[in-house]
Amino acid sequence: MSFKTIIEPFRIKTVEPIRRTTREQRAAALVAAGYNLFLLKAEDVLIDLLTDSGTGAMSSRQWAGMMMGDESYAGASSFYRFEAAVRDITGLKHVIPTHQGRAAERILFGSVLKPGDIVPNNTHFDTTRANVEYRKAQALDLPIPESREPQRYHPFKGNMDLEALERVLRDNPGRVPLVMITVTNNSGGGQPVSMANIREARAICNRYGVPLYLDACRFAENAWFIKLREPGYADKTPLEIAREMFGYVDGCTMSAKKDGLANIGGFLALNDDDLAQRCKNLLILSEGFPTYGGLAGYDLEAIAVGLREVLDEDYLRYRIRSVEYLGEICMHNDIPLVLPTGGHAIYLDARAILHHIPWYEYPAWALALVLYLEGGVRSVPIDTVMFGRQPDGTEKPAAMELVRLAFPRRVYTQSHVDYLAEVLIHVRKLAPRIRGVRMVYEPPVLRHFTARFEPLVEGLLAPE
Ligand code: F0G
Repeated sequence: MSFKTIIEPFRIKTVEPIRRTTREQRAAALVAAGYNLFLLKAEDVLIDLLTDSGTGAMSSRQWAGMMMGDESYAGASSFYRFEAAVRDITGLKHVIPTHQGRAAERILFGSVLKPGDIVPNNTHFDTTRANVEYRKAQALDLPIPESREPQRYHPFKGNMDLEALERVLRDNPGRVPLVMITVTNNSGGGQPVSMANIREARAICNRYGVPLYLDACRFAENAWFIKLREPGYADKTPLEIAREMFGYVDGCTMSAKKDGLANIGGFLALNDDDLAQRCKNLLILSEGFPTYGGLAGYDLEAIAVGLREVLDEDYLRYRIRSVEYLGEICMHNDIPLVLPTGGHAIYLDARAILHHIPWYEYPAWALALVLYLEGGVRSVPIDTVMFGRQPDGTEKPAAMELVRLAFPRRVYTQSHVDYLAEVLIHVRKLAPRIRGVRMVYEPPVLRHFTARFEPLVEGLLAPE
C-alpha cells in the first residue's frame, strides 16, 4: 500500500513563535515602513514569504556539523570538507567560498568584464544584473518567448532562447566574455531549465569559444524538475542529474542560502586556472583568505552538509509539491499565477489580477501590500519597481508584474499553506477595490529595497 499524502519529511525539534497582529497594527506598520515590505520589522510579519534565501531551517546534522567548525585562518579542515562537497556535485576544479551569491558574482564579473561587454543569461536576477551593470557591461536577458506569458504551460519555461543566444554570439565577437544560465529561473517564475537546453547552450558556446556558467542557486530544485519532466531522467538520482548539469559548464556562482540549505554563504567554482587565481586575488581584498572567503568555519560545515541533504528525494518531493499544492488552490479559485508552478515560490500575476491599475502605479507592489495588510503575509514584487529603471535613466514597464511568495526551506507546514490560501482567496475578492501606489523616494540603485511609497487612496482600498 502506498499512501498518497506527501508529508513533511522531518519532525520539528525547535520551535520559533510567530506573532499575530491586528489589521490596525499592520496598517500602522505599513506607514512606518514607507509602504515598502522590505522596511517592515520581521516581528510584525505572521508568515514571511519575502524570500527563500537564508531563511531555511537547518537540520540536526547541520547543527552537529557546525560544532566541528575549524576556525583556523588558513587551511581549515572545514574548508576541505566544504570543497569536497562542492566538487563531488559540480566536478569543478577551483572552489572559492564567498559570504553569499552576489559576492561570487561581483568577484567573477570584476575579473572578466570590461565596459561594453555583454552577458547573456536566460534571466538575470536583480543582484546579478546590478553586478554586470556596475562593470558598465550589458546584462542581456534571453528567455524563451513562452516565459513571458504567465499562464502558458511549458515544462521548462526557464530555458534560454538558443537562437537568440547564437545571434548575440555571432553578432558580437569578442564582446561576450561568458554566458550564464540561471537555474531555476528565479525572476521568470522559479522555472526550470532542461538538460537539453544546457547541453545545447554548451554546444553553441563551444562554437564561439565562450565559457558557460551556471547561476546555480537552486540547482537541486532544477534537477528534480528534470527528473520529473525530461524524458530519460526518471530513473536517475538528483545527484546524478546535478552532476550532468554541472558537467556542461566551465564554472558557477552559487548562493548557499538557497539550495545550500544554509543561512549564509556561497561560492564561485570554476575550471580555468588563471581566472581562478585572479578571482582569489580579488577575494582576499574584500571577502578574505581563499579557505574561508568571508565565512566562519562552522558556516562551511553547514553548507557541506546542506549540499548533500538538499538532493534527498523525499525532501525535494515535499518541497516542490507544497508549492504546487498552493498553485492548484489558486487555479481553482481564479487567482492568476505563473504556470506551471516553479520550484521555490508561486508568482501571482498582478497584471491579470489588477488589470485596472496601470504599470506606472505599480500593481504588483500594491497587491503585495494588501496581502500583508489583510493577512500578515509578506511577499515580494518582481515587477517594474524592481526592473523598470533603465541604465539611461528612463522608466519602462517590466516584462511582467509578479508577486512572489517564496517558501523558506523546511520552515512552514501544510496548515500555514492552507492559511495562505484563505488569505489569497480573500484578497482576490478585494481586487476591484485595490488601488496603486506612487513612489515618493527613489535610491540610485536596486531601488526596490529602500524606495518609499504612498498609496493613491488611503488604506490602499477604494470604498465598496
Ligand atoms: N542569483 C539568483 C538566481 C538569486 O535568486 C539570488 C538571490 C542571487 C543570485 C544572489 O544571491 O542573495 O546570496 O547574494 N536571491 C534572493 C531571492 C535574494 O530572494 O530570490 P545572494
